[in-house]
Amino acid sequence: MLSFTNLSVLVLLAISSIQVLAQNCACGYKDSVGHVWREAIVSTFTQDAGALAAVNADWLISTDLQGQPTGTANIQYVAANVFQHQDALGLKASAYDNSGSVKSAEIFTKKHDILYGSFRMSAQVPSVPGVVFGFFTYINDTQEQDIEFLSSDPDYHQHVYYTNQPGQLPNGDVDRNSAKNVVVQRADFTRFGIHRFDWLPGATTYSYEGTNEADETITSSTLVTKNVPTAPSEFVLNIWSNGDPGFSKGPPNADAIATVKYAHLYFNSSSFDVAKFNAACSAAGRIAPCNV
Ligand SMILES: *[C@@H]1O[C@H](CO)[C@@H](O)[C@H](O)[C@H]1NC(C)=O
Ligand SMILES: *[C@@H]1O[C@H](CO)[C@@H](O)[C@H](O)[C@H]1NC(C)=O
Repeated sequence: MLSFTNLSVLVLLAISSIQVLAQNCACGYKDSVGHVWREAIVSTFTQDAGALAAVNADWLISTDLQGQPTGTANIQYVAANVFQHQDALGLKASAYDNSGSVKSAEIFTKKHDILYGSFRMSAQVPSVPGVVFGFFTYINDTQEQDIEFLSSDPDYHQHVYYTNQPGQLPNGDVDRNSAKNVVVQRADFTRFGIHRFDWLPGATTYSYEGTNEADETITSSTLVTKNVPTAPSEFVLNIWSNGDPGFSKGPPNADAIATVKYAHLYFNSSSFDVAKFNAACSAAGRIAPCNV
């Protein structure tokens, strides 16, 4: 058994290593394009403490019922569908039980004032048909930028939808300048790969980097400059189905699971403004930003 003294030492060590980590990046995070971000949410779902500990630190789990006038079923978000799966985070849309709603999963950041940043996840897409898997910023239906995967697409393992909402023109047609339907040749999204977008004033750059079964590195990048959000937002991951034959299809007849190893969000927000950031960076001796 640990003595009280040993336990105290361990706790002190743990606290001081957290402080060192935080201090190391007191001057922010510099991304591969050279942009500096003041804050980060680094959710490592493969950590020893478990995926749900990483969720609980920075995210909330949705439990609301969303009525779906255009679908054949409603969406019922349930906490149980956000779970430890293998060595990572599982997000599940359950096999449909004909109850009128599909049990689905969603987490969103406690912070809802994220404005610009670089957002990445390492994930495997679900392969059971009839669900949507999303990684996106959101504040309302016209201030939203999405990465979405539709598991009913025959080529779902290399097909991704990048949308700065609204993705439709007023006449209802798809707006090809704000909604990009991208097939990444030779990619395999059922393997862990990095799905990312970089949100800057006037430009969202969506990208992917992963490997396929032949061990080739596959990359792709898509720039969208229309309908780039300008409002402080929250960040969301979800998986759902409403049985809409035009989009999610389904509902799924087996459990559909997205597996996420990490979500790394580097961003600016109004609650940690330039003055607070500069003071923290000065106090840390104006060290170099962390490269991310
Ligand atoms: C969405 O949010 C923006 C920015 O706050 C606001 O201007 C716009 O009216 C909102 N749109 C809707 C549909 O609520
Ligand atoms: C984010 O914050 C950094 C540090 O304050 C600043 O240099 C940068 O211009 C900000 N980025 C955007 C897109 O506002």
